[in-house]
Amino acid sequence: MSERTGTLPDPFAAEVHQNPYPAYRQLRESGAVHPSTIGVPAYYRHADCSAILRDRRWGCGFSEERLQRVQRLGIAQVFMHQNPPEHTRLRRLASDAFTPSSVAAMRTHILEVCDRLLDSALAGPETDLVSAYAHPLPVMMIGDLLGVPEADREPFYAWSSALARGLDPDFAVTAEVIDERREAILNFNSYFASLAAKRRKCPADDLVTHLTEVQDTGDLSEADLLAICVLILVAGHETTAGLIGNGTLALLRNPEQLAMVREEGPEIADGAWLEELLRYEAPVRLVKRTALEDLDHGGRIYKRGETVAVVIGSANRDDAVFADPDVLNFTRPNNHLSFSLGTHFCLGASLAHLEGSLAITTLLRRAPELRLAEDDPPYVKAPVFLRGLERLPVRVGKQSR
Ligand code: HEM
Repeated sequence: MSERTGTLPDPFAAEVHQNPYPAYRQLRESGAVHPSTIGVPAYYRHADCSAILRDRRWGCGFSEERLQRVQRLGIAQVFMHQNPPEHTRLRRLASDAFTPSSVAAMRTHILEVCDRLLDSALAGPETDLVSAYAHPLPVMMIGDLLGVPEADREPFYAWSSALARGLDPDFAVTAEVIDERREAILNFNSYFASLAAKRRKCPADDLVTHLTEVQDTGDLSEADLLAICVLILVAGHETTAGLIGNGTLALLRNPEQLAMVREEGPEIADGAWLEELLRYEAPVRLVKRTALEDLDHGGRIYKRGETVAVVIGSANRDDAVFADPDVLNFTRPNNHLSFSLGTHFCLGASLAHLEGSLAITTLLRRAPELRLAEDDPPYVKAPVFLRGLERLPVRVGKQSR
């Protein structure tokens, strides 16, 4: 392995947080794998990242300490952190909500929610698109999918953010963040336990009802049911908010590409432009993989249980795969890794795609003169796993409905 020397940057350091891409480039150019400040060796090149994500000898694993903590809390592991066959069984139970027809059926409702949020977000001359639009939209959509009544959703934002912050390794977060994460899990669990009890008495057309029916057949424990609900909410919230915020910022900074989206409109909802926004500013910066057996990757031997980081945000800017990778270009062929690959490929990718494209095209249609009100809006500093804006202040200009 190439060792990190004084001349190589730390891409997870606060100083490069706003723009980690030059650091990623330097690391890609100077070796396949480097030690990192997040506690595990990290891979930065597209070829390594995609090979590891596809390789079933790499999976998910947790330290003994973390497994014991989860057991102490009396909660189940989410399937994103499990391996086949358990992963396959639980993922299948959740996947009914994400079939192409279930997702397509959400289109009209997504548009209604976008319009409703924009009615208030665009009411004044300036607004913060992250807090007024990018964050509430995914929580509302996932709330609908799960069957959470609108009046109950307010605390979800704080609980979900506490869980997302808690994704960082324990040594990188304060005791307070760890406590907040524990409290958020317990709050979610008790909320979903009471919702499941209500749905058992009074079924509705939603995912919680579907899961209670599966539970009644004996194929799903109560703890797994709760873990699926929490996973879907947390996996789909900050990530989709990241896509909407990061994507809008990238468009406002690239007027020619912005004009292409405006001209094409929602007809290209499934089109290349959204893929390129996902590549350009990946909402999930990195994922971790653990060797499930002793193995060799690129000549380096890993013992069973050893963990590496796969830095998606870097792989997406690798010029071995993407010409001029730092340029936003909607006409390029795109095999970005933003939804991961292989066993854990994002279950909500088609929903994220539809939500992201409708959110951005509706915003552009309603605010044709939209401008940045701050040149370099800050990215949230933690967690290092996710990349999303803290705020996106914009000037609204003229509006249309
Ligand atoms: C732009 C938005 C999104 C991005 C960038 C994204 C990205 C990802 C990535 C990278 C993974 C793989 C994690 C790993 O390999 O360890 C993943 C998994 C997952 N995502 Fe997404 N996601 C997005 C939206 C959503 C939405 C909207 C939902 C559901 C409402 C969702 C649900 C899931 C679930 C359940 C998994 C676990 C899959 C498994 O382990 O089998 N995601 N996502």
